[in-house]
Amino acid sequence: MLVLGIDTSCDETAVSVVKNGEKVLSNIVFSSLKLHKKFGGVVPEIACRIHVEAVTYAIKQALTEAKAELRDIDLIAVTFGPGLVGSLLVGISIAKSFSFAGNIPLIGINHLEAHLESAFINRTRPNSPFVGLVVSGGHTCLVYNNGNYELLGRTRDDAAGEAFDKVAKILGLTYPGGPVIEQLAEDGDPEKIRFPRSFLGRDSLDFSFSGVKTAVLYYLRDHSAEEVKIADIAASFQEAVIDILVAKTLLACKIKRVDKVVVGGGVAANCRLRKRLISDAAELNIKVYYPSGQFCTDNAAMVAVLGYRCYKRYKKREISDLSLTAVPNLGFGEKEYIFGKDPSATS
Ligand code: KG4
Ligand code: ZN
Repeated sequence: MLVLGIDTSCDETAVSVVKNGEKVLSNIVFSSLKLHKKFGGVVPEIACRIHVEAVTYAIKQALTEAKAELRDIDLIAVTFGPGLVGSLLVGISIAKSFSFAGNIPLIGINHLEAHLESAFINRTRPNSPFVGLVVSGGHTCLVYNNGNYELLGRTRDDAAGEAFDKVAKILGLTYPGGPVIEQLAEDGDPEKIRFPRSFLGRDSLDFSFSGVKTAVLYYLRDHSAEEVKIADIAASFQEAVIDILVAKTLLACKIKRVDKVVVGGGVAANCRLRKRLISDAAELNIKVYYPSGQFCTDNAAMVAVLGYRCYKRYKKREISDLSLTAVPNLGFGEKEYIFGKDPSATS
């Protein structure tokens, strides 16, 4: 069974063809990143205009690389939320058009749940229960999976990736901030500056990263250029964020009594985070499942893989009624997928 996955939730136009829910035949990611750089963040209007220009080429290229044609596709899986509404609508509209023209079933996928799915591409899938940590530019959440997803905690202000991006901007670095800060941090001392760690109470699984970002701003304001070594700030900031992410993820495992953690999202590409989480978890006999580098940031292979699993689980096989639309604030566990009309409403 061939699934065409499409994700246009943010600034990447991503299309992928996946066979039987596991073999990635193509994984195309066009990014409008360089057009956003000078603004220090994604400009929604620019992102969706570029999606309109790029999406048909991305689909053509994904099919060509997979040596497939539209008539070979058995299912189209498209992200319907969360994300930028204009961007989401581009992917949804083209997915609907292809579904209608090719008489192909269409399934709408939750982007956050797809991020966790990316940890299982070309890897063994652990049995539930597990704790999931999604750390991306727009989201930071902890979830519990015991067949279905339950939200345990989420950020009350900035997402982890957003904090990296904002601190990079404060330091005069380029967007996206995560990779640049990680690289700079390699030459810095993570213990040089003790930036605040906001735990929001001993048992809270919520996050807050706006305080550490402001602390970086004040540190720069209060120290002269000679006193400041940017690499130390980068390393110390990164360490503060990682301390919080690791501590809260392991706390969630303790509360839920689970011994598996699945991580997804752009910040999951951070090597220091991986190393720290894996070694701290190992001391508690907890195993960590990570996506390979290319599947951490936005991609459509994760959407196709989750689409396949959801479709197999869904009892009906009729063609979608094409009522699918964007849900920009879609939350974790709210809806893993939607098949035309809400399946519960059609049964
Ligand atoms: O998952 P993603 O591609 O897009 C969203 O769904 O938001 O995540 C992008 C975010 C950006 O904020 C970027 O700075 C961050 O992931 N990121 C990183 C690293 N690579 C990307 N953060 C820390 N370390 C990295 N190596
Ligand atoms: Zn994402």
